[in-house]
Amino acid sequence: MGLKNVDSQCSLSELDDYDLSRLLSKPRLNIERQRSFDDSLSELSIGLGLNRGSYDNFEAMYSPRGRTGLDTPTSSARNSFEPHPMVAEAWEALRRTMVFFKDQPVGTIAALDSSEEALNYDQVFVRDFVPSALAFLMNGEPDIVKNFLLRTLWLQGSEKKIDRFKLGEGVMPASFKVLHDATTKRETLAADFGESAIGRVAPVDSGFWWIILLRAYTKSTGDLSLSERPECQRGMRLILTLCLSEGFDTFPTLLCADGCSMVDRRMGVYGYPIEIQALFFMALRCALAMLKADSNEGKECIEKIVERLHALSYHMRSYFWLDFQQLNKIYRYKTEEYSHTAVNKFNVIPDSIPDWIFEFMPTRGGYFIGNVSPARMDFRWFALGNCIAILSSLTTPEQSMAIMDLIESRWEELVGEMPLKVCYPAIENHEWIIVTGCDPKNTRWSYHNGGSWPVLLWLLTAACIKTGRPQIARRAIDLAETRLLKDSWPEYYDGKLGRYIGKQARKFQTWSIAGYLVAKMMLEDPSHLGMISLEEDKQMKPVLKRSSSWNC
Ligand code: GLC
Repeated sequence: MGLKNVDSQCSLSELDDYDLSRLLSKPRLNIERQRSFDDSLSELSIGLGLNRGSYDNFEAMYSPRGRTGLDTPTSSARNSFEPHPMVAEAWEALRRTMVFFKDQPVGTIAALDSSEEALNYDQVFVRDFVPSALAFLMNGEPDIVKNFLLRTLWLQGSEKKIDRFKLGEGVMPASFKVLHDATTKRETLAADFGESAIGRVAPVDSGFWWIILLRAYTKSTGDLSLSERPECQRGMRLILTLCLSEGFDTFPTLLCADGCSMVDRRMGVYGYPIEIQALFFMALRCALAMLKADSNEGKECIEKIVERLHALSYHMRSYFWLDFQQLNKIYRYKTEEYSHTAVNKFNVIPDSIPDWIFEFMPTRGGYFIGNVSPARMDFRWFALGNCIAILSSLTTPEQSMAIMDLIESRWEELVGEMPLKVCYPAIENHEWIIVTGCDPKNTRWSYHNGGSWPVLLWLLTAACIKTGRPQIARRAIDLAETRLLKDSWPEYYDGKLGRYIGKQARKFQTWSIAGYLVAKMMLEDPSHLGMISLEEDKQMKPVLKRSSSWNC
């Protein structure tokens, strides 16, 4: 039975979310793989949000036809909105970026800007393709997504070496391109796993996005046969094996090098960056919904995932969360504490708290900070990590609301004139020299250093819908609509308010185009949110009070 036949209004008794702790306490053999279908049901019918009330209100307001379930509409044709003229232009621009391999569409190139040197922007990037893929899925065109998933999976099998050093089997490429041999007329795929990338860093996020996209495809089409293929099952296991192995780690978070995700240059995003931890958590949950327990490898992987999810959500909710109360606590921390009774477990020195945070932190609101490691808290706010935390339910419902409160009360800083800052604030002066290594592309309020990235609009919109705050997304989309098309879809904007087209920004940047389309389609039909959002797992109950978590 395909998911398309599912009545989205099914009864609450079917809504039991996947019970993590039940699994943990059960012997291995009881782990049954029958879940993905039930999970999909529950996630869909719960209302795709943490706050059913607000989601329903929103839907009643904006979607008079009722929820369309998984039967995705062909966008604007059937909606109650007048389609914005930019939508048609965006679709045309997006279609021009499609890449074909052996006559099949397999992805979209990063940018179609002939005025700039192509560098690697003529390649299909895994992370960049995600919003394109969601746009195609929402528009009822899943083939390109399926082809992409299979081709990149095949590339995962290639030998990956940087100089004489071999990378793990599970690593997924950052990008790939189609090579045409003029004489033989043959086409081949060439992938980059970091061996050509600036800084030679492997993309940790690619594998996570691949798993997240596989679930989005499965949810959107109801086609379980793709994720159930042995090669897809193996692909997921290989990706996660890279992250779930035991070693010297004392934290459940994933240790990373700088530049291993969207921010792919040195920006002090090393150690345990929120951008990676949130994607890691989401990929673990997506894999759990798709992995089959019909082999020992499958069962073992599921068990490891379940254990890691518990530890990871506890760690993140306890130590990465910052709000006014928590900031005040850190400000008054004692240091040099030893043994299990320590309150300041990581020995953070209060003097290392940057001045800007005291003004930035509203009385109401909070967020997951950029990084936590021994004696180091990176207080910067990162858009992708916080939105993914909401979508994956890494945040508690209260934390999700607090993140939205923060965005609302710090609108000028985080959204300004163009949604959305990749991180806040920018690094300047001596700190810029030390942290970026004098990177001329990452000067203050530019590119990865506090620049504004239109692609992030889709993540913001999804988070807004999930938390029942569609009006925030509407405001952000209105802002984007005043500029994006006129400015030819820039990759990023510069300045404290994001008012200037980025110094070295590409035009016709594909994910700026696709991000806008996805945001529009989700707002028009919020049931699309289900393909990129996961319900809260009731068994991963958070520590109720920050103080208690900190002390235990
Ligand atoms: C830049 C971005 C990276 C993106 C790539 C292609 O390097 O930092 O996130 O994937 O461009 O658009």
